[in-house]
Amino acid sequence: MSRPEIEVRGLHKSFGDNEVLRGIDLEVGRGEVVCVIGPSGSGKSTLLRCVNLLEEPSGGQVFVGGAELTDPDVDIDAVRRRIGMVFQQFNLFPHLSVTENLTLPQRRVLRRGKAEAAKVAAENLERVGLSDKATAYPASLSGGQQQRVAIARALAMGPEVMLFDEPTSALDPELVGDVLAVMRMLAREGMTMMVVTHEMTFAREVADRVVFMDGGVIVEDGAPAQVIGAPAHERTRHFLSRLLDPAMAEVEEETSDQVGGPGK
Ligand SMILES: Nc1ncnc2c1ncn2[C@@H]1O[C@H](COP(=O)(O)OP(=O)(O)OP(=O)(O)O)[C@@H](O)[C@H]1O
Ligand SMILES: [Mg+2]
Repeated sequence: MSRPEIEVRGLHKSFGDNEVLRGIDLEVGRGEVVCVIGPSGSGKSTLLRCVNLLEEPSGGQVFVGGAELTDPDVDIDAVRRRIGMVFQQFNLFPHLSVTENLTLPQRRVLRRGKAEAAKVAAENLERVGLSDKATAYPASLSGGQQQRVAIARALAMGPEVMLFDEPTSALDPELVGDVLAVMRMLAREGMTMMVVTHEMTFAREVADRVVFMDGGVIVEDGAPAQVIGAPAHERTRHFLSRLLDPAMAEVEEETSDQVGGPGK
């Protein structure tokens, strides 16, 4: 079997006394889509940020495409070029047009010529359905359109792996679908993806595996139908019940002491 595209071994990360990742082991195969779910503060963003070394791990190893990012001698810029990252906040340059947002990193980082960068930008705007916004400025776009521009910008760099950190959390509900549709397309095309998300429908339909994190460890890692549909751990069940029905979870908590546990 070929090596996984992303390999995380014994990953630890502390901020001062706060140990945020407490030994993460995770593999993502080529073309696999792994959704990471878990409560706020469980370390999901920190895990993604360690995978492209936006955060320096305190211990353990991270490999992408067989190259060890945590090797002190690695050419980190070269490895990072293989990894596209999309954040909750789109981080577009407001003073640049959509096309310029896509061409600037290609020219600066990949040293592509003007014509080639423009061609790649146009191709990727087309992929995300925004060819008609090429000359627009970010402020004139909806949040969903801005996020699709951010995805196109990452794709224009030709990454082997895409990391998404709650890409739809800042969007109005009616704009979420278009962004998820682009991510579905990428998954179908065989992109290797790690996606931190609260979109359980997306995770169920698109993910090959779902990873549930809590307190800096992976509690469950398995097929979506298993982790979301029939979780083996109480912590996962509790998280999912809160997510799917926050009001019910509160009632359960209030009543569980008096009536000997939540009932239906
Ligand atoms: N740069 C930092 N400096 C100090 N502490 C940090 C830093 N980044 C994250 N933390 C802490 O690490 C813990 C995990 O944070 P992280 O952002 O990874 O959680 P998360 O699972 O992504 O949560 P959320 O769902 O709210 O985004 C939190 O306690 C957070 O305060
Ligand atoms: Mg986060």
